Amino acid sequence: MNVPQFLIFDFDSTVIKGESLEILAEISMSGHPKKEEISSEIKRITEAAMNGTVDFASALKKRLSLLDLNEEHILKAIEELKNSITPSFIQNRSFLKANADRIYVVSGGFKELILPVVRILGLREDHVYANEFLFNLARKIVGVDESNLLAQSRGKAKLVKSLKFKGEGIVIGDGATDLEIIEDNANCQFYAFTENVRRAELVKKASREIKTLDILATEYASSSKKEMKEDIKVLLFENVHPVAVNAFRQKGFLVEAVSSACEESELVKKIADVHFLGIRSKTQVNENVLSHAKNLLCVGAFCIGTDQIQLEAAESKGVVVFNAPFSSTRSVVELAAGLIIVLARQIFPKSTALHQGIWDKSTTSACEVRGKTLGIVGYGNIGAQLSILAESMGMRVLYYDLVEKVSLGNTKACRDLKTLLNSSDIVTVHVDGRAENKSIFGENEFQEMKDGSIFLNLSRGHIVDLKALAKYLKLGKLNGAALDVYPQEPRSNSEPFALELQNMPNVILTPHIGGSTLEAQKNIGETVVNRFLEFYEAGSSLGSVNFPQLSIPPLRSGLTRIFHIHENVPGILAAINGFFGAKNVNIEAQYLSTDNKIGYVVTDVSSFKTEFLSELKKVPHTIKVRMNSDSK
Ligand SMILES: NC(=O)c1ccc[n+]([C@@H]2O[C@H](COP(=O)([O-])OP(=O)(O)OC[C@H]3O[C@@H](n4cnc5c(N)ncnc54)[C@H](O)[C@@H]3O)[C@@H](O)[C@H]2O)c1
Repeated sequence: MNVPQFLIFDFDSTVIKGESLEILAEISMSGHPKKEEISSEIKRITEAAMNGTVDFASALKKRLSLLDLNEEHILKAIEELKNSITPSFIQNRSFLKANADRIYVVSGGFKELILPVVRILGLREDHVYANEFLFNLARKIVGVDESNLLAQSRGKAKLVKSLKFKGEGIVIGDGATDLEIIEDNANCQFYAFTENVRRAELVKKASREIKTLDILATEYASSSKKEMKEDIKVLLFENVHPVAVNAFRQKGFLVEAVSSACEESELVKKIADVHFLGIRSKTQVNENVLSHAKNLLCVGAFCIGTDQIQLEAAESKGVVVFNAPFSSTRSVVELAAGLIIVLARQIFPKSTALHQGIWDKSTTSACEVRGKTLGIVGYGNIGAQLSILAESMGMRVLYYDLVEKVSLGNTKACRDLKTLLNSSDIVTVHVDGRAENKSIFGENEFQEMKDGSIFLNLSRGHIVDLKALAKYLKLGKLNGAALDVYPQEPRSNSEPFALELQNMPNVILTPHIGGSTLEAQKNIGETVVNRFLEFYEAGSSLGSVNFPQLSIPPLRSGLTRIFHIHENVPGILAAINGFFGAKNVNIEAQYLSTDNKIGYVVTDVSSFKTEFLSELKKVPHTIKVRMNSDSK
């Protein structure tokens, strides 16, 4: 667990066992003829507010309007609240006291009721943010201070934002208003506290469930020590999946997760002391950005493509780059399979007409896919997996690839593209994005396709000449098409998009969503984090897109692992090993891989002293050196 810079506690049903306003209501209605009726109505409104079905501000007003409150009721309620403190809060008073400087109580309840309890727990009164009653001269309660942010809807979220907390924090509570805090404050995580009440829906949305305060107090103590040992900083942009954010935090790393992409001018400021940078397709990592990174070990592309990263510049700086090339394979395959059926049945024109009130049941050239020939261009991960699904739907599958491939099932390789185009009823393209693939589908290729055939491209935008595609669709040579990728794609949802194929019948256009499924995003998150951790902990660079590949066995106990990245020049390995020899450090195992530019050598040694590291850095042509984090 990461040590948070601040902890925010909810009060009602978290610090105390119940809801303070309900306790106050009970006391004020003692002997009231409609007590039961009003009490249950207050409970109902409280529950609705906690579940998020009624907004907090109107829930507060409604509840107060049902009551006739005065100061005496408050004094009685305080006595009751003092006896209603949640057991694990009482038991962990020393933890609360010791961390009082970073603990805040943020509540939609009332300061008049909260402060006496907070004093008992040793928390700071000036760290309590809550509503305040308005009294008249007779000390009757006539309302609440409505200028207080906490009397408003999403009040807790607004209040926390206004406090401008620095660093990472945790919000611990039981209600929807606590969850709202993290929606508006990216530096907070939400822990559902369930010692008093467990709202299943809320627990599902929480980063974790805390059944008592004991767990937090114990982890806090042990991770405080861990933080002192290492201080790895992770900076994530573009809404990287929470599975990745949580995995990094569980390792005890300091994580900053931002939902948007980052412009170069901002990134150069933020990257200085970052060890792991995580991006998706929009944040550009160029030589200038890399030159500002003093500690950077790795850039993780939480996507397939790595065009947004200057890979060679990263390599020269000893920065390894990982992506997740296979995590969305199945998602693309399923979309392609679905589109093939939808195009063959001409579902889109029929559906569009019916949306406009036109019942068109006329016979069309709609057909089954069973028995038809599917031609797959590019028989890689996606193409090959699609062939299995297509065969199981009863299709005959042909494929064409530049390199020799193992044919799965009954699929047959075509010796050239022309043969595939001449023989296929449906052609689907799944080639990679190499520059030579620009416009590999143009006039000639569409002409070679069978009359009435269907074309799909879910691979890269630049491979199709869209003018030629539009021409052959208009001529009726092609019966339909589906595109998911385009030569120029908008950078954000707010940018407009125009294409010659818009509004053509039986043409399906999707906004590059082939890999955009919940499953794919989660897989991507897990894959990139795992690759980084394998690199960081063991030194494995396997699967990187810019580094010499090394797969390394676990370190034997008692040894130290040294990771050395250097310019690939003659004599460098001898210099490194000479250094070890001169220091009386014994080499127990060594793993080396090089490419044209750099060498990456991982050495397991005994009798290594930490202070040798700075001397090893001085060996000429060294780019980067580090030792494994568990080394003493
Ligand atoms: N639409 C999306 O959201 C989405 C998601 C994931 C991947 N993709 C794209 O799908 C494509 C395929 O992905 P993959 O994981 O299967 O890639 P891959 O590298 O495993 O397979 C590509 C195959 O195409 C072959 N190839 C390259 N150029 C060729 C050519 N001119 N003619 C014939 N074969 C050629 C290669 O030899 C390789 O076998 C990639 O371009 C990838 O970027 C798109």
